[in-house]
Amino acid sequence: MYLEHLSLTDFRSYAQVDLKLGPGATVLVGSNGIGKTNLMEAIGYLATLSSHRVSTDGPLLRFGTDRALIRAKLVRGEQSTVVELEINAGRANRGRINRGNPVRARDILGICQTVLFAPEDLALVKGDPSNRRRFLDELLVSLMPVHAATRSDYDRVLKQRNALLKSARTGKFTSGHEATLDVWDQHMARAGAELLHARLELVERLRPHLKRAYGQLTDGSKEAGVLYRSTIQGGLDDDGGPAEGPAESSEGVEDLRSLSVEKLTERYIQAFAASRRKELERGISLVGPHRDELELVLGQAPAKGYASHGETWSMCLSLRLASYYVMLDDTRTGGSAPILILDDVFAELDVQRRRKLAAIVAGAEQVLVTAAVDADIPEELAGRRVKVVPGGIDGEG
Ligand SMILES: Nc1ncnc2c1ncn2[C@@H]1O[C@H](COP(=O)(O)OP(=O)(O)OP(=O)(O)O)[C@@H](O)[C@H]1O
Ligand SMILES: [Mg+2]
Repeated sequence: MYLEHLSLTDFRSYAQVDLKLGPGATVLVGSNGIGKTNLMEAIGYLATLSSHRVSTDGPLLRFGTDRALIRAKLVRGEQSTVVELEINAGRANRGRINRGNPVRARDILGICQTVLFAPEDLALVKGDPSNRRRFLDELLVSLMPVHAATRSDYDRVLKQRNALLKSARTGKFTSGHEATLDVWDQHMARAGAELLHARLELVERLRPHLKRAYGQLTDGSKEAGVLYRSTIQGGLDDDGGPAEGPAESSEGVEDLRSLSVEKLTERYIQAFAASRRKELERGISLVGPHRDELELVLGQAPAKGYASHGETWSMCLSLRLASYYVMLDDTRTGGSAPILILDDVFAELDVQRRRKLAAIVAGAEQVLVTAAVDADIPEELAGRRVKVVPGGIDGEG
């Protein structure tokens, strides 16, 4: 698919901006702080309903305003769709498809599909496990928007269960509470099993693409891999770190992979029972996909704590490229390619890797690249240049 037209109202630094785009490569050039990332962030938000820079909507609204509007015209094959998203302060966000009646924001998921790479992605390797879980879950929702509900169900039950466990710490825990906890266990086991099942399947799909992408970007001297560590494999300790003792986790992963959602639900119920005493003591849910880890491996070692700066960049890029390939392969998208967004990437790479990355992405249906310095963009991406100037786009509209 490609984005043909983007229009923003009161989003970040823009009172109003219109950007016309076409298929193929477009490079947005402009000085630091001019608003390039703001444009890319808006496209990414439309696709995932979350920003790659902030965890709340507040900073997305232009200073002093309480409503931002993102409107995009997307072309997929012969078909074009106009999708709008209103981001509201203090009120639920709303969507609109083809100028129809307002819908829940969640209902526009899947219309705009992007793979966005930005410097913040370094946290995929260096950051805590929540970054990697979010990576998996966002990709999951892009592929299958129904999983947005799976996620929010799980988060809701987890919150309620944690509140109950916390109250137990204050000594007010009665048999009535115990019965309520049993009910939450059932809900959480089911929602957790659905999430785990979907994540495990996704990791299998990512693995070969990650390996290939890393090989393409580097000289191929190391192999990139992923390992999913679940709290019901005994592969993690209570604080989410890898458990002591020999890692037999690849065997464990295979184990869980062969289990149905029903079987995984049972496993969770058993695990909750086994850790109930500890959970009551600590006042927090210790078992479940919210504490799982997606371990990134480079050669023999985990990427986190071992990878060099350059290797870290290549690993993060490869994860995003792998997402891109998984989406491309996905039958549900009908082979329609997501929009590839590379924000501020080239300045960080050496000439070799710039050229390799450019060669990989040059064939994408649409790739949007930002740079402060034109010269950082390799010739392979000699697409259209758009100049971003204060408050808007030079010569566009
Ligand atoms: N909510 C907001 N309201 C008004 N202005 C904002 C808001 N959020 C961010 N800005 C402004 O937007 C600018 C940053 O824009 P952006 O991050 O898109 O820059 P950029 O072109 O990507 O720069 P760089 O090349 O340094 O990455 C900053 O000047 C910031 O003050
Ligand atoms: Mg930027």
